[in-house]
Amino acid sequence: MSLSDMNSLLVAARSKGYAVGAFTVWDMESVQAVVGAAESLNLPVITQVGPWEADFAGMELLADIAKHVALRASVPVALHLDHGENFERAMRAIHCGFTSVMIDVSDLPFRENVALTREVVKCAHAAGVTAEGEIGVVGGGIHSAESSGEQPAMTEPEEAERFVKETGVDALAVAIGNAHGFYKAAPRLDFRRLTEIAERVPVPIVLHGGTGIPDEAIREAIKHGIAKINICTQFVAAFGKAFQEVQTEPDFAYNIPNLFTEPRRRAKQLVAEKIGLFGPRLPRRTMRSSPPEV
Ligand code: 13P
Repeated sequence: MSLSDMNSLLVAARSKGYAVGAFTVWDMESVQAVVGAAESLNLPVITQVGPWEADFAGMELLADIAKHVALRASVPVALHLDHGENFERAMRAIHCGFTSVMIDVSDLPFRENVALTREVVKCAHAAGVTAEGEIGVVGGGIHSAESSGEQPAMTEPEEAERFVKETGVDALAVAIGNAHGFYKAAPRLDFRRLTEIAERVPVPIVLHGGTGIPDEAIREAIKHGIAKINICTQFVAAFGKAFQEVQTEPDFAYNIPNLFTEPRRRAKQLVAEKIGLFGPRLPRRTMRSSPPEV
């Protein structure tokens, strides 16, 4: 299919009542796991890169890997900057060929958040790139080990409406009881708040902190307007745990297939489970019976 913009995927999702999975990537295997899983279910997917991953791998190299795989994929794949922390990061992502960028300055006062987000949206749109902003602050810190689910600030529906109107964002990340990292206790999402936001905000709504949200809550969130769900920690952990396990096998020998094949397979399996849960109910015959190996 091709490298896709994010907006066409999310607008279709919101109007048809499903969500698109967005998974953090940092290297070849993580990109292959995400795109391979999406191909196995014939569903669109979003590969996304945050500041940590960009600094770890190099934004240009990572963009080239993701674009290489996306351009050869049989399903639409978007390449998104997650939690861009300033104007320069967002511009660099656009320069590297990302099809979507997030500017996250949600910890700034409302007026400053609006002003900077509007500037990024303007430049992104001029380059044919879509933009996500955030109002309310999703807690947990993007790479925290555990999260209490407490939020520095929940999204106020009225503010969300003004934010979208004044910035022109294509997608809006909200704080409704979700947080980054593993949750200490099952999170309690505020569906009433989400419903009010969805009534006021016409653009697709994004749920960050997808790790550890129970399936039932995910289904409910989608029913109430969520069209993009971000997963990072659980995906990284799938690789990490599998790496540990394969090395404890008797007579384990260090070579590339022995060390890397199983972690990528497990991570791909996790992505397939998640996008199967988020995605549209497909007629069975459109799904391949056995996923092709990445
Ligand atoms: P988790 O790490 O909790 O899955 O959150 C990912 C995320 O929201 C990235 O923006």
